[in-house]
Amino acid sequence: MKRYLVQTFGCQMNVHDSRRIEEVLDANGYQPADEPAAADVIILNTCSVREKAEQKLRSMVGTYKGLKALRPDLVIVVAGCVAQQEGEKLLRRVPHLDVVIGPDNIVELPMLIEHMRDGAAPIARTVFDTEAPTFLVAQPRPNAHEVTSYVTVMKGCDERCTYCIVPYTRGPERYRAADEIVGEIARMAHGGVREITLLGQTVNSWHSQGAGEGESEFPALLRRIAREVPSLARLRYTSPHPRHLTEALIDAHAELAVLPRHVHLPVQSGSDRMLKRMLRRYTAADYVRRVDALRERVPGLTLSTDMIVGFPGETDEDFEQTLTLVRRVGFVSLFGFKYSPRPYTPALKLDDDVSEEKKDERLQRLFALSDELQTAHLASLVGSRASVLVESRDPAGPDRYSGRSERHELVHFDAPAGVDPRGLLVEVDIVDAYKHSLHGLMEGGLPFAPPPPKRSPVRLPVASA
Ligand code: SAH
Ligand code: SF4
Ligand code: F3S
Repeated sequence: MKRYLVQTFGCQMNVHDSRRIEEVLDANGYQPADEPAAADVIILNTCSVREKAEQKLRSMVGTYKGLKALRPDLVIVVAGCVAQQEGEKLLRRVPHLDVVIGPDNIVELPMLIEHMRDGAAPIARTVFDTEAPTFLVAQPRPNAHEVTSYVTVMKGCDERCTYCIVPYTRGPERYRAADEIVGEIARMAHGGVREITLLGQTVNSWHSQGAGEGESEFPALLRRIAREVPSLARLRYTSPHPRHLTEALIDAHAELAVLPRHVHLPVQSGSDRMLKRMLRRYTAADYVRRVDALRERVPGLTLSTDMIVGFPGETDEDFEQTLTLVRRVGFVSLFGFKYSPRPYTPALKLDDDVSEEKKDERLQRLFALSDELQTAHLASLVGSRASVLVESRDPAGPDRYSGRSERHELVHFDAPAGVDPRGLLVEVDIVDAYKHSLHGLMEGGLPFAPPPPKRSPVRLPVASA
């Protein structure tokens, strides 16, 4: 029996791709290994969105050098965005590599591994399926009791944000057919999944060429999913682009109960000068206008975002505008990143002129503000009741569970003894707020004994992507 191990880095799309890699290998008679030493194939699913990706890859592959010396038939595969970005050059530059495979070539992996095992030379396959795009169908995992899952609606990116390598590593935009999307969601829901997050780099630019008038765009897709999969408790999407936050999408938010009152809407900067240099195609005022319109129609809706600090040419004044925007919108959480020059991106032509110290300092100030807003937001919820979709049992206690509120707050709570609410929407009375989560008591539950509060300043976790 051949065994594999997949290690994943980067964004939700990569996590999703890793699942497809596992499924393709499972279907070809492989089984998962618990640790590298037990694996016949090790797959590193990589991300190159920030900093020294290839260097990290080299050192990761280096850690398997000893294993490979002991077992020369061990196959080491690099998948994901570093693979797509560098292709067969990686085979020359990174010792011990056997297969380099791009995101659109996952189905070919078993065949390439077999070639290697038959003694073929190391090989790279990184060809976009632009002519005939395919989307690997996700397989429901009923035994895993998954409450929440992801469904791809589009791949690639046609934006050209000047700092970003993703259009290069993921290719042009390709859209999945609505029937396929709805079919996959229905199968997931049938298998017990209660929440779906639609995935795409500019997910709300989704459209389908073949559909009739009014049925062809993202809001129409949301309506169709709500109509055809009524057992779904929640429907989220990531990442939307602000310029596709249209009136029709705002209407959908106001009308569809399945859309929770939270949107993650990356803004990147509060300075129009920086937004222009980043080619984001909106101004700070456009962004505010759109989110205000959304919040007017959906009272209480919360927003989170992505921010880049230290983009070329960013002055103290530009950065102050970012802080002003964060306060003005009142983001309840944010992922902040120091600008990192990426190969093949237009911003490389600009001088990376903000010093590392300045970038650090700005990031710390951004996180401090974000912490302040998040703490105030969570504290304001103490004494309220939240509708929580229960995702998992907490290791902390026999009747302790956790899930997400409608507005995406992480909620830990005690359920009544012996009740297992996983997969259910339950009402939780919020009794305490911590740095990044809420604690509460499920209706009819026992009083919750929270751990001692951590009052030391804790930095917001930086998203891996
Ligand atoms: N398609 C998504 C996210 C893409 S990458 C979107 O447009 O929202 C995730 C985040 O990484 C981006 O939102 C951005 O904040 C950050 N990022 C991308 N390239 C970067 C770079 N070169 N340096 C620093 N942060 C970057
Ligand atoms: Fe596309 Fe811009 Fe998102 Fe990069 S940051 S994936 S270029 S929309
Ligand atoms: Fe995702 Fe990183 Fe690629 S963010 S799309 S895995 S560069």
